[in-house]
Amino acid sequence: MTNGTQAQEMYYTRAGNGPVVVLLHGFPDSGRIWSRVADELKNSFTLLIPDLPGSGNSPLAAPTSLADMAAGIKQILDKEGITKAIIAGHSMGGYVALAFARLYPACVAGLSLIHSSPMADDDEKVKLRLKTIELIQMGGKESFIKQMTANLFAPGYASAHPGVVAEKTAMGLSMSDEGMINFYRAMIHRADNRAVVHEAAYPVQWVLGSEDALIDYRKILKECHQSYINFVTLYIGCGHISTIENPEMLVADLREFCNYCCPNRS
Ligand code: MLT
Repeated sequence: MTNGTQAQEMYYTRAGNGPVVVLLHGFPDSGRIWSRVADELKNSFTLLIPDLPGSGNSPLAAPTSLADMAAGIKQILDKEGITKAIIAGHSMGGYVALAFARLYPACVAGLSLIHSSPMADDDEKVKLRLKTIELIQMGGKESFIKQMTANLFAPGYASAHPGVVAEKTAMGLSMSDEGMINFYRAMIHRADNRAVVHEAAYPVQWVLGSEDALIDYRKILKECHQSYINFVTLYIGCGHISTIENPEMLVADLREFCNYCCPNRS
């Protein structure tokens, strides 16, 4: 326990060799979302890929904040005997990565934020999330996930790849109502972590999509040059989910960033 957080135990996979990279998935996903990226990176890095509580193989034992999830990641590192790692997160996974960096800055070798934001929800977003929670409680999970999933992809990608969108929708629908509601509550209550990136003593990576309907890259561009060392890439024509829309470029950018963070690798 740290600062009132309650570490939640999580299922995770470990693969590969080399400097350690933790890959944190977004909402409504599980560690599976990293499979293509992991296949490429595991030749050069040790990858730790958890299912955050309430997703994949990790049950939701109790209400869990993003800080609790971060404390769970620290528990995994302790169990694996790892003192420092690159922490990479996609969207909500980036919010968890930021919570980790806030709680355990000395354990961070680099922070990679992929279609994510250091800002807290504004009032409009909180209202929208509360409405969504109500909708799920009234049995509307399916319509919410269908609409949300369509929004994750750039419009051109979605119309050219209906099978991929259907598969992603099915993956989202496999999450329980309770799991979804917990993630939404956790995101509503997350801290504004701009100071974490402004004061970062480690390199920070920002991957943005020009067609991302969830994270406005223009807002992020205002924040992302304030830390000491920044890697910033805007993927033109990409939506919110480069893990699926543009995995080759994401792998190349992650590899470059992670190599930079570990100059003394053997
Ligand atoms: C995600 O993609 O992880 C979430 O949708 C992000 C969010 O809702 O803020």
